Formats: sequence, structure tokens, C-alpha cells
Amino acid sequence: RLAAALAAIGEAGDADALEAQRIAALGKQGWISAALKTLGAMTPEQRQAEGPRIQGMRAAVGEAIDNRKAALEKADLEQRLAAEVIDLTLPAPEMPKGSVHPVSQVMDELAEIFADMGFSVATGPEIEDDWHNFTALNMPESHPARAMHDTFYFPQDANEALDSAPNGSETAPGSAAAGRQKRMLLRTHTSPVQIRSMVKHGAPLRIIAPGRVYRSDSDATHTPMFHQVEGLVIDRDIHLGHLKWTLETFLKAFFERDDIVLRLRPSYFPFTEPSVEVDVGFALENGRRVLGGDGDAPGHGWMELLGSGMVNRRVIEFAGLDPDQWQGFAFGVGVDRLAMLKYGMDDLRAFFDGDARWLAHYGFNA
Ligand code: PHE
Repeated sequence: RLAAALAAIGEAGDADALEAQRIAALGKQGWISAALKTLGAMTPEQRQAEGPRIQGMRAAVGEAIDNRKAALEKADLEQRLAAEVIDLTLPAPEMPKGSVHPVSQVMDELAEIFADMGFSVATGPEIEDDWHNFTALNMPESHPARAMHDTFYFPQDANEALDSAPNGSETAPGSAAAGRQKRMLLRTHTSPVQIRSMVKHGAPLRIIAPGRVYRSDSDATHTPMFHQVEGLVIDRDIHLGHLKWTLETFLKAFFERDDIVLRLRPSYFPFTEPSVEVDVGFALENGRRVLGGDGDAPGHGWMELLGSGMVNRRVIEFAGLDPDQWQGFAFGVGVDRLAMLKYGMDDLRAFFDGDARWLAHYGFNA
């Protein structure tokens, strides 16, 4: 019986056949189990002889099953290795290639251009508090300029959980006004990074701060999220001439044209005084606006490009510096707008659709 069982185990062709053999011998109804049950009815002498014999058979069958199982698994693995060989000589399927998004590309270019002028890159949080986004930028609570920002605020109860008491706040701690200044929002511009940089690093300072900003606004030229780059220089004896030179140098490098002409127009921002809006001259070529040249020349015009000005004394004070010692200029420009102008793109919304065909159309699939 044992010899027949061992032979059948040795010939089991797969795991199921092997399992059937195990059940036939060692299962509840198996012949070894049955043999073990006969021990109970034997005399002690018989049991002494039969017990070890039956246990020996049980061990032999168990070992044969383990061996066969290992052999079957090995054969199975070898067969799979042989079947699943990869043919490295086959041509690979063509995969679409990714590329750097134009917005990221422009931000990289800006960082590079300004690095040459001694600016470093600063960042700040996109979830900002009211104090950094408005109050410290000389926009107290009742300031009408706040209404122009279409701010996304966080619900009040979410705010109670978040608290980072703004330093330098002018209101008494714990007061209702102090609570409102801690109110969290999605920053509406990169200007709060001006405050954070001055508070953290003091003066002198030369930074640009590229990043995402948010306003509740949406059409062909506005998306609720867009990108700005902020510039800030704080030093002694800084004046508007430095601002104009810096912007001119930057725009010539960015648009790779020497004939960029700027026009500074008086404007108003609460955080700069005086404030200047900067326009850039363009020429019409086949109905398309091409930057460069004097906007007042025949066939030319001016395009509004960015906001800037001398940093308001109040802002320098809010950031903890002495405005009698330190002056500076600041500017803020839309990165998406710069990208549209440089690459001739006309719909801002396409920037954020994630359609690879759009990127390819503008050559961003290198
Ligand atoms: N923060 C302003 C805006 O978003 C731009 C600006 C920045 C103007 C710095 C002046 C100085 O419109």
C-alpha cells in the first residue's frame, strides 16, 4: 500500500493531483488515518509493534508530498521564466513626452534673469492671513481696495483652528479686530511675500517672489488661480530710476529685444507711493501686437504690463523697518500674461486645461 501511494505521489502532475493523493492517505477518511484508528483496539504488545510502523508510513508519505510539491513549484517557475522572456530587440511603443509648462518655464526664466541682477527667490504661503495680505500692505479693514480683490476667504470656523498670530499687528491681542486679522484667505497677490521677506530678513533686500494667487474671477483673460511674480528691493537711497532701469533690463532680457520702450504712468496702490503703472510699446504687424518700439510712433501703441512703485513708508514700518533709513521699490506682474505675450497665446484658460495638444501647438513638446 505504501509503495503504491509513494509512486502515485511521485507521479502527481500538478498541485490538484498531489492534493488528491494527500487526502487519500492523510485525510480524515485516508488509509493512514484509518490504520491509526485500529491502534485503539489492539493489545499493548501489538500496539508497540504496529504504532511505530504506521507513524513511519505517515512520515514517509508526508515527506514524499513535500518533495513532490517543491519539484512541481520549481518546474512551474522554470516554465514561466522560459515563457515570459522579454525580447529586447523588439521596437518599443512610442510614448508621448512631457514638457515643462510655459508658466513654469517663464518662472524659471524670470528667476534666471533676476539672479543676474543679484535678486534671490523668496516664497510665501498660498493660504495667507488677512494681516499679511491686506493690513500690513496698508489696506486696513475698511479700505476700498480690498473690494477689488474678489478674495476667497476661508469659513470662520475653519479659521478658529488655524492661528498664526501675525507679528507686528497693530491691534490688541485677543480683540475682535485681532481675530479678523488672523482670518485666513487664499492670497490675492504675491505682495504679502514683501512683508514676510522684510520681517524675516530685514534690509537690505533684493528678492523676486513667483507663485500662485487667487481671485474669484473667470473669463478668457481671468482664471480664479493665476501666477504673479513680485519684485522687491529695499536699500538706502533707492529711487524710481532704479525701478525703471530694473524693469527695462528685465523686459529686454525676457523678450530678447533691445528696442523695448517703457512708459510710466501715475497710478495708485495702497502699498506703494508714488505708484506707477508700466506700459510697454508695441507695433502692429499683420494685425498682431509685437512688443518693441515707441508706443507713440505711428502704427504703434501702449500695452499695460505691470503695477509698481516706491514702497509706502507705512509698509516698511509694518514690516518692522525704519522708513527713514530704508527705501525701496516693488513691482508685481502676471506671469501668465508674460507667457501669453512671449509665446503668442491668446486664451488664458488653456494654460490650465492640461491639454497636451495645446502645449505641442506652441512648441512645448521638446
Ligand atoms: N499687488 C499688485 C496687484 O496684484 C501689484 C503690485 C505689486 C503693485 C507691487 C505695486 C507693487 O495688482
